[in-house]
Amino acid sequence: MRIDVVTLFPSMVDAPLSESIVGRAREAGRLKLGFSNPRDFAEDRHKTVDDKPYGGGTGMVMMAEPIYKALKKVAKKGSHVIILTPKGERFDQRMALKLAAKKHLVFICGHYEGIDERVNSFADQELSVGDYVLTGGEPAAVVIIDAVARLLPGVLKKEDATVNETFTEGLLEAPHYTRPGVWRRMKVPEVLLGGNHKKIAEWRSSAARDLTGRKRPDLLESKRKS
Ligand code: ADE
Repeated sequence: MRIDVVTLFPSMVDAPLSESIVGRAREAGRLKLGFSNPRDFAEDRHKTVDDKPYGGGTGMVMMAEPIYKALKKVAKKGSHVIILTPKGERFDQRMALKLAAKKHLVFICGHYEGIDERVNSFADQELSVGDYVLTGGEPAAVVIIDAVARLLPGVLKKEDATVNETFTEGLLEAPHYTRPGVWRRMKVPEVLLGGNHKKIAEWRSSAARDLTGRKRPDLLESKRKS
């Protein structure tokens, strides 16, 4: 998969996605990550990319043309273009699975008060990572790219690591334990110590339901509806 990010601050996205699993996926060529900076397409000698909002109000708005040119440099026919904004549809695991099936994603990161609304006509989708306001789209891009990258073939050691996990089934995952069997007087559930895979699967499934009911009853509710 290839992902390009249109951003005034490429290192805010590049640096966190250079470490650990995603960093290795990039080194192995499973994920190609590129950047396009609207500042490189600014038309005046001050390299201006933002301006005051029409109608007045606080803050600055990112101008359409430098973003458009930065987008045109990387987007091709068939690219899936996403604007990151708190006004977008809420990103979740289901969306991560959908995006992981695309060949080329382009993320547009807003900064300051936002982006000139007219840029939206060049996007396929607007996404938000949650009901809070970040300083810009960059941390949101990192979250989404991370969630998508780990679903790509060969990125995780065991491909099936993504099959039974939290959210894929619409439930929180059962608790995990490792050695020692007793730690500070707390014991690992007995069933996990024996080798009965059927019993273990049953325990995990009921533990997942219990946990979801206690911590995220809303997930059980939406699973029941779907
Ligand atoms: N930009 C600012 N806040 C954001 C959010 N919550 N999600 C996506 N992009 C954003």
